[in-house]
Amino acid sequence: MKYAIDMHLTDTPREKPTDESKLGFGRIFTDHMFLMDYSRKDGWTNGRIVPFGPLPIHPASTVFHYGAEIFEGMKAYRLKDGSVQLFRPLENVRRMNNSARRMCLPVLDEEGALEIIKTVVRVDQDWVPHQVGTSLYIRPFMFGNDPHLGVHAVENAVFCVIMSPVGAYYAEGINPVKIAIETEDVRAVRGGTGEAKCGGNYAASLRAGEKAEKEGFTQVLWLDGVERKYIEEVGSMNVMFKIAGKIVTPKLTGSVLPGITRKSCIQLLRDWGYEVEERLVSAEELFNAAKDGTLEEAWGTGTAAVVSPIGELYMDGREFTVCGNKIGPVTQKLYDELTGIQWGLKEDKYNWTCKL
Ligand code: COI
Repeated sequence: MKYAIDMHLTDTPREKPTDESKLGFGRIFTDHMFLMDYSRKDGWTNGRIVPFGPLPIHPASTVFHYGAEIFEGMKAYRLKDGSVQLFRPLENVRRMNNSARRMCLPVLDEEGALEIIKTVVRVDQDWVPHQVGTSLYIRPFMFGNDPHLGVHAVENAVFCVIMSPVGAYYAEGINPVKIAIETEDVRAVRGGTGEAKCGGNYAASLRAGEKAEKEGFTQVLWLDGVERKYIEEVGSMNVMFKIAGKIVTPKLTGSVLPGITRKSCIQLLRDWGYEVEERLVSAEELFNAAKDGTLEEAWGTGTAAVVSPIGELYMDGREFTVCGNKIGPVTQKLYDELTGIQWGLKEDKYNWTCKL
């Protein structure tokens, strides 16, 4: 099903960044954004592409008081021939709908949502950067917008897509990051909202993130909220370890985000002949493997983070270095293969990419 889209394009397009090596992450936005309104009575209406700018929102809106918000992260890549492509965009749309179901927000028609994303990227496609390692980060999000304070599933919502030309998510780029395993705060519990991509999960992670940053770490690695024993995810990425030749990654227990990069890496690794175990992984197992020398590599996977080596892990006064604090061969191979497919430099035998 197609959603109608009205076009209200800007007369005053802004200057695009000239130095693409300094883009950073999510600080610069393109000229336009997409907006669409939902009401229980009328469904999705008033789809429109408008100049990027502030949204007028009622002060009682559900999003401000009860955190009714979900989002996605995806990217558009500039190919050598100048064309632009997306990476597994329907997976993002499907995950967004799963998040919507969990948060009692309205779902979108899959094909219709994909067409919206393609259309808004097409409008601002000159903003897709050209330099190696850069892309256009696409942030679709939805929020509950009922103008009253009752606590209930929303009757009104807004779907929005904004876009930002980006470089590497971490200041370290592809260099190894330093991660602290968090032992006090938890990010999510099974039965909670951990597997939904909702703003609240990220809000709950900020205190530990701040503490870790002050102590010199890039981010925190969360333990499960029940036993506080098993590794879950970093928040901006899923994690994988190479232990004694096998790849091990936390299984999707309900409190871990089902990453699309995670899923893609698992498929690549299996096709390369690695045994990949999706199972519970305790912090103790990691420390023991580090001690006996079988922890060969560690890395994170995510749309923003891509494939990011983990060079140091810390927990409760214990610290260990992984792979000599250098990017390991499997991490590098995954990064090269995945980004090769995304930038159209390698054959896409999985049909993961999607032309604009
Ligand atoms: C992504 O990888 O797209 C994310 O959503 C992670 C983060 C920037 C919140």
